[in-house]
Amino acid sequence: MTRRGGPTLSGRRAVALAGLILAGVVPAADADGLSAVATLGRQMFFDPSLSASGAMSCAFCHDPANHYGPQAGVVVEQGGPGMDRPGFRTVPSLAYKSLTPPFSIGPENATSEAAEALPMQIAETTDTVPFSPATAITKLVIANRAPAAAKSGDTSGNMVARGGLFWDGRAQTLQDQAEGPLLSPFEMANADIPTLAARIRAAYGKPLGRFFGDQILKDDRMTVDEAAYALARFQTEDPSFHPFSSKYDAWLAGKATLTEAEARGRALFDDPKKGNCAACHLDRPDATGKPPLFTDFEFEALAVPRNPAIPANADPAYHDLGLCGPLRKDAPQAANCGLFKTPTLRNVATRGVFFHNGAYTKLSDAVEFYALRDTRPARIYPRGPDGTVEAYNDLPPQYRGNIDRTDAPLNRRAGDPPALTEAEAGDIVAFLNTLTDGWHP
Ligand code: HEC
Ligand code: HEC
Repeated sequence: MTRRGGPTLSGRRAVALAGLILAGVVPAADADGLSAVATLGRQMFFDPSLSASGAMSCAFCHDPANHYGPQAGVVVEQGGPGMDRPGFRTVPSLAYKSLTPPFSIGPENATSEAAEALPMQIAETTDTVPFSPATAITKLVIANRAPAAAKSGDTSGNMVARGGLFWDGRAQTLQDQAEGPLLSPFEMANADIPTLAARIRAAYGKPLGRFFGDQILKDDRMTVDEAAYALARFQTEDPSFHPFSSKYDAWLAGKATLTEAEARGRALFDDPKKGNCAACHLDRPDATGKPPLFTDFEFEALAVPRNPAIPANADPAYHDLGLCGPLRKDAPQAANCGLFKTPTLRNVATRGVFFHNGAYTKLSDAVEFYALRDTRPARIYPRGPDGTVEAYNDLPPQYRGNIDRTDAPLNRRAGDPPALTEAEAGDIVAFLNTLTDGWHP
């Protein structure tokens, strides 16, 4: 990837900040090695006074004791002014998210190169292929309809969507993203930018003025932007967001031995004829030796079953279609419907809910989904009133052509033997358990 354009906002900001640091106005780093701005971002991350309810901070949903993932047993959180408005999607872990590339549409064969993750810029985009809804429709149609898009096959020339934050990639940077929960009516629920800016000034006016100049406090938009920047810096700088301290990392460094089940699981995870998981959840160090992030950041329609535990799903007309909406607004084309971003599997074994809609609460069920979706659909999807299996029941029929049926193990048909036995799925679970950070020999 190449960089384009002149200095950006964050570039100027970084220079200004460097000046202040040199001038001794801003302390360069605190005892933890965080910059002063990141330290401020940490305070904000844990501060419920930035929410309308006064009860909800970022950490409320992104539990630092659980790799910044959801609290146990929560499918969707409830927020809003009265803490009673349910969300629509499961809470992702924030670990490793600063290494997400910005959203783009580009050639599939650029992916492996891009997976040598150019880390996300905190506050700017740097990609080679600017995204626009017009490119999305033509290019994603190609990606989804051509069997050659299969990850095991020749992929030259196919265009795919990848990167960005949220399950639908709709935020380009951690700075853009932070505004989302602060303003969302079912999360921290600040009614608008002026309300949010007032809350930020009340708690952080002094340090923000010191770091960025008092004039930013007179401008609501700039006040919010700088607070979001501080939140992004915290997530980028604090090592607790990207510790690379799992047993698998130790194993890659030659400092741990996998058990037999873990080693079998890894082989099945890699094997194109078995799990083929590594085709999307990359598990090898990149060409520069950086440890793998267990995602290629690409979007796929897996058609996980509908989850009745999400209150919005009580309305049969409601569908979360990921890339094409309703939360994302700029890519409404039919070819984008049902596609969600491939998440990292680091720390996945500590989650209690899996996939964007929390369709599964057990990791082994999430793994078996891949083997059984088309071979044993009756074990995955519910039956309708007339007794027929309602396959792909969370995706309206007109979008089912988008479903990934080309990448193994999702390329099998009804009655074929599942690609994984239950015991093999169990071995993959054992392997996934080696991806939990904080491992001690
Ligand atoms: C009410 C619970 C809740 C609160 C509070 C909350 N989040 Fe989130 N967060 C979520 C959910 C749910 C998603 C996924 C939403 C989606 O994909 O549309 C998410 C997604 C994210 C992502 C993108 C992760 C990814 O996998 O791409 C980041 C980064 C993030 N949140 C940071 C924050 C920050 C910073 C705050 C505080 C300003 C915050 N969150 C507050 C629930 C919450
Ligand atoms: C074709 C690409 C692809 C392949 C192959 C693939 N995955 Fe995934 N994986 C995804 C996508 C996309 C999602 C998110 C889908 C969604 O939420 O709708 C996902 C989600 C998951 C999740 C849920 C993670 C979370 O944070 O909720 C688990 C667990 C998982 N995959 C494990 C596996 C395993 C194990 C295999 C191999 C048997 C595998 N995946 C193969 C693309 C893939």
